[in-house]
Amino acid sequence: MTQITLALTKGRILKETLPLLKEAGIVPMEDIFSSRKLVFPTNHSGLRLIILRGSDVPTYVQFGAADIGVAGKDVLLEHQGDGYYEPLDLGIARCKLMTAGPVGTSVPQGRLRVATKYINIARQFYAEQGRQADLIKLFGAMELAPILDLAHEIVDIVDTGNTLKANGLEARDEIADISARLIVNKAAMKTKFNELQSTVDALSSVVSK
Ligand code: PRP
Repeated sequence: MTQITLALTKGRILKETLPLLKEAGIVPMEDIFSSRKLVFPTNHSGLRLIILRGSDVPTYVQFGAADIGVAGKDVLLEHQGDGYYEPLDLGIARCKLMTAGPVGTSVPQGRLRVATKYINIARQFYAEQGRQADLIKLFGAMELAPILDLAHEIVDIVDTGNTLKANGLEARDEIADISARLIVNKAAMKTKFNELQSTVDALSSVVSK
């Protein structure tokens, strides 16, 4: 039997993905949240789930280690990989990718120091704006960087805006609308067409409800 591996992004996206999968008739055989396992069989014997850090989902799907995956658009924009299609906007985990800086301050005239985990997105954004920016790679807690004067500005995800507010920051420019997307390995789309297309179709009909 053809085996399909579906890579899911852990954390917030996972909490919103599981109800969608359930509506599409895909249910893990055990509780993902109370387990340390990374691979979960489902009620479909030909479909298993793997649970990954978001930024690893496009890598697994690009190389065909997973056939299909769920990843945030922010991660996909930053990954800049090929080898997969992006057939479906799942409409979940909606947020915005924005620049932000300390409340009441404006950007300096000279070179701007920007802290972010989205180095590729930021490089492209500031280049398009014609602004010189020195980018500083961080892996988390970006909001701390302007407070401690590591950077003038950050590029990060904003959902409720609570994290910015709690740290004395305010949003400046909007870079992109973000939501979770379904991605499918290009080669697998040919070799496992029926199984993958039926998974895409099932999720598509849930999303378009
Ligand atoms: C994201 C982002 C912000 C926060 C924004 O972090 O990096 O810190 O959410 O949400 P808000 O506008 O609703 O406050 P997340 O909790 O996803 O963790 P991570 O980016 O460090 O993985």
